[in-house]
Order: sequence, then C-alpha cells, then structure tokens
Amino acid sequence: MSADDQKRIAGEAAAALVEAGMTVGLGTGSTAAWFVKALAGRGLDIRGVPTSVATADLAVSLGMKLATLDEVKGIDLTVDGADEIGPGLTLIKGGGAALLREKLVWEASKRCVVIADAAKVVPVLGAFALPIEVVAFGHIHTQARLCDALASCDIEIAPRWRKKDGEPVRTDGGNYVYDAACREITDSAMLADALKLVTGVVEHGLFIDLADEAIIGTDSGVKRLTP
Ligand code: 5RP
Repeated sequence: MSADDQKRIAGEAAAALVEAGMTVGLGTGSTAAWFVKALAGRGLDIRGVPTSVATADLAVSLGMKLATLDEVKGIDLTVDGADEIGPGLTLIKGGGAALLREKLVWEASKRCVVIADAAKVVPVLGAFALPIEVVAFGHIHTQARLCDALASCDIEIAPRWRKKDGEPVRTDGGNYVYDAACREITDSAMLADALKLVTGVVEHGLFIDLADEAIIGTDSGVKRLTP
C-alpha cells in the first residue's frame, strides 16, 4: 500500500469517530485532508474548526460548516496529521507551517487523534527537523538565541530559515519558520521549555501530552496506538 493510501485509510477511520452535533478540529496537511474529505462525505451536521487557511478552503469547497476557534466554547474532537510520532505519542508537527493554529486547536479539544502513515512512527524523535515559528522582526537575532537554547539541551546546531522557491515561508499568522535538524531529541520536555523561553519564538512543533490516540495506516489496515 502506498503512503498516500495509508494516510487515506487512517483519515477514513478517524472520520468514523465523529458524531452528529460535534464541533471538530480539522488538522492541516495531506493526511488531514483525507480526514476532511471522508468527514464531508458522511454528511453529518457538524461544525469544523480549521487549523489553516488551506484546510478552511478545502472544507468550504466540500460544503462543510465552519467556525473560528473563538466562535466555539470548546472542541469535541480534533483530528490532525504529524511529521513524527514518538514514544508516548509525543509528536513533531509543523511541516506544513500550521503548528501554532494546530496547537491552539488541539489544546482547546476534549480529545485529539493523530493520523498518519506507518513511516511516521519512530522510536526516537528528531530525524524530521523540528519546526519553530518565530516573529519576523529580529529573526536573525532570534536564531542566535535559538542556537543557545538548543545547545543547552546538548543539540549543537543552527536552525535553518525555511524558504520555498527562494522565498521565506510565512505562516498563516505572518511569521517565519526555522527548522532545527536535531537528529535525536532525547528530552522533548526540556527542549520544549528551552525553546519557549526564547523571545521571538511564537511556538515550536513539539506536541507533548496532547494526543489521546494515534490511528496509523499500515499495509495490513489501521493500527491504533495510545500513550
Ligand atoms: C502541518 C502539520 C502536518 O500535520 C504534518 O506536516 C503532516 O503532514 P502530512 O499529513 O502531509 O504528512 O503538522 O503543520
């Protein structure tokens, strides 16, 4: 089965968890898009809270009813993809530059389910470069402070300013993204704390203690993981 088929079956299995009347957080990325399509196909009366402009556009094109995070009191269930899924369902997210809105929606949710193809499950986080969203003002100086924060966690690298086609990538909030190729993250909580202390950092892509369940598409069907 291709990685895309694995993403599709994970998205379809997650769509089956949604019940009529729910407020549902809609993740960002190719796996989350499969979820959104499968959910729209069920025709339930639900409200979606999108985590990015791209997901909002997709959901609207499929006729889904949407609300912003501030228009809802809470979210019943959020379903979203990930770049890496490590032990305890600690995640790296933000490959699609939506990490801030994703984390805000996840934190407002009663239940969070991460969906992915099998290759995303790893024994140690860090092979995927950790996305860090920073404000544009003074970002070169912020990068220097990020190096110090990473070094305090024994990670001696300089995060790279994310560009696409030679142009800096901007998040939906207008910020920049730096990617830290940590290789191995042995203490994700310590790293998360160190990054959050840097002025200019808006958010990082470590999702710790947020995922309640993972639905993984594999060659032999979906597999469910809990922390
Ligand atoms: C976007 C994300 C995505 O969930 C993550 O990048 C996975 O994407 P895909 O499902 O396309 O592999 O965190 O910010």
